[in-house]
Amino acid sequence: MLKRNSCCPPVRATPTVLAPPAAASRLARRALALLPLVLIIGCGKSGSTDGVHTAELTPSGIGSEGPAGPSGIPPGLADDETGSIQGNTGADAPLPAPDAPPHSSLTETPAPDQGDEPTPQDERFHTTLERPILEDPPRPAIVPWSDISEEEFAAGLPAPVVIAPPDHDFDSNQPPLFPDLRNVTVVAGEQLELHLAPIDPDGGIAGQYLKELFPGATYVDNFDTTRTLVWSPLQPDVGIRELIVYAVDPVEPRLRVAYTVLIKVVLPEDPTSIVNHPPGIDRVAPQTVRLGDPVVVQIKGTDRNGTIPRVEIADYPADTTFMRHRDDPRIRVIRFVPTEPGTITLQAIAHDALDPELTHRKPIVINVEAAETFERSGERLRDLASARDFHIGYASSTRPYHRADGGLYAATASSEFNIVTPENSMKWDRLNPTPGDYNWAAADNLIDFAQANDMRVHGHTLVWYTQLPAWVKETRPETRETHMRQFIERVLERYADDVPLWDVVNESLDRNGGLRNSIWLEAMGPSYIEKAFRYARDAAPDATLLYNEYDIGWYGPKARGLLRLLDSLIETETPIDGVGFQMHVDADFDRFHELADMIDEVSSRGLDTYITELDVSMRGEQTEAQQAAVFRGVLSVCLEAPSCKALQAWGFTDRYSWREAFTPLMFDREYQPKPAYRALQRRLAGN
Ligand code: XIL
Repeated sequence: MLKRNSCCPPVRATPTVLAPPAAASRLARRALALLPLVLIIGCGKSGSTDGVHTAELTPSGIGSEGPAGPSGIPPGLADDETGSIQGNTGADAPLPAPDAPPHSSLTETPAPDQGDEPTPQDERFHTTLERPILEDPPRPAIVPWSDISEEEFAAGLPAPVVIAPPDHDFDSNQPPLFPDLRNVTVVAGEQLELHLAPIDPDGGIAGQYLKELFPGATYVDNFDTTRTLVWSPLQPDVGIRELIVYAVDPVEPRLRVAYTVLIKVVLPEDPTSIVNHPPGIDRVAPQTVRLGDPVVVQIKGTDRNGTIPRVEIADYPADTTFMRHRDDPRIRVIRFVPTEPGTITLQAIAHDALDPELTHRKPIVINVEAAETFERSGERLRDLASARDFHIGYASSTRPYHRADGGLYAATASSEFNIVTPENSMKWDRLNPTPGDYNWAAADNLIDFAQANDMRVHGHTLVWYTQLPAWVKETRPETRETHMRQFIERVLERYADDVPLWDVVNESLDRNGGLRNSIWLEAMGPSYIEKAFRYARDAAPDATLLYNEYDIGWYGPKARGLLRLLDSLIETETPIDGVGFQMHVDADFDRFHELADMIDEVSSRGLDTYITELDVSMRGEQTEAQQAAVFRGVLSVCLEAPSCKALQAWGFTDRYSWREAFTPLMFDREYQPKPAYRALQRRLAGN
């Protein structure tokens, strides 16, 4: 019979030991192994503070007793925003992918200390001439799967986890299952074929999907309701790893059972019998650089057998320096300063470590253009903006100075913009990937760059449902508020003096205007938003604190949800100063009046507004002229609204856009201004 906890998640003893993520997932597996089967019933979607419910399942089937589950659906099953037209799809978590129950024993984590401080990097590794570039202390590589012990493997298939909607009636619809799954052993160099055949006890045809596929493996459809995992592991795969496969109920797709299969890869008796594959070289896209700027190229040699090829470069320019990457012995870094315009083709050759005759070649093409090629007519956007006391900005990619065109990237950005947002480098997964480890260097470097060029920095983002490190997602809900508070305090302690503007909470709304499922909602209920702002205000009394969101710049349930959220925050005197309208839109966007109205609605509540992440994707037949009109239209709305303080694009060159395929920015891949640039220039000039 089912035993269901009345309140969830189950409270376990909380040892104060600090468990690194790998160890934490080991604990989880052990916890799971103690139960014959674990049942997860979803937490409330919006407003519920409940977490997950766990229960035991006996071999005789699933029964039901105890209180009914809370209303709502499990994390990962909510109406994630994947289908929105103007919206943001890339940042959404894939659906559905519920994680194992929260399990980490961490109650708090160590604060940053001297050991986290970045140090100056050898200047031959980067393109920045004017200032030192900092790098983080070396960190041990995380090997996520290698900690599964022989004992755990020998104990057999870990207990499957049932995931069910809260009101599910197990008497009328039993969960699907994989009756034949066992842990498996495979010899490196041989091929594993794992037949995956789910069944449904109620007689329908059960579906299935994998949480993720190992690199190099395939998941073959047998067209008979079964699938086969085909994988040929090699030497680097030796060890035990887990494959998570879900059986999906044919009638109720939210009813799923997650099976973890442990796959052990062993070396053959004679390891030299494993076929020696040729080495490879990771592709380096053709680059455009400016004459006179240093060019840095990272060339990574790879080998499926796990050895490290020797990488040689032919046809390199005079005075090229060759260096090994500090953290990755497979990477060679070369640096040179081109002395004339033209195309430089470097021939990279990787030699196999065991058989140097076994080679792989890859050309690396660098187009060197004279500096005049990148000169633009008219005034720079930032000068036009400053003259109106306005800010025009971009999101900076993470380490532009480690790329061939770093000089050009920096020169274009610093000449055109007076505000910058880190596109990724202040997100939690980047700053604090493991408990107690802080990687500040990329954000520090961006701030140095901004200060050297008299730009404001817009911090992004303190509390978000995604781009979280695995260990945060694994924390127990009772401890999560502490982790949130500590992260906010630590980041603001370091950066509040240099960063006047922060996205405190990002994307808390779902497409219907309710609160999106997230680890924060699950743990803290709707008050997590208010609390995040209060923690931020305490840590940065003078900062401007924003709520940032997408698909709120036009009428609809999400926009209404935003206004409701703002009203409730104002009601509770939450220290919020403004709203960021992301504006990831397409080139046929024409709802400028609605944007103006929404900006008005927000400013009538006493809040500032910002256009924070503008990019304008060109899809299908859409043209650069349409794109330019959207850039212009959005800028006009912002300039005409007294509350609108800045227009920030999500990048500036299509080369480094997160939506590169839709060329959504105002410079092309070769750093040439597009009509969108001219449109911004003209509008800022007042025409
Ligand atoms: C995006 C970045 O541009 C990508 O490089 C990253 O892989 C995913 O996140 N809304 C946000 C931004 O607030 O942080 C997202 O940035 C885009 C959507």
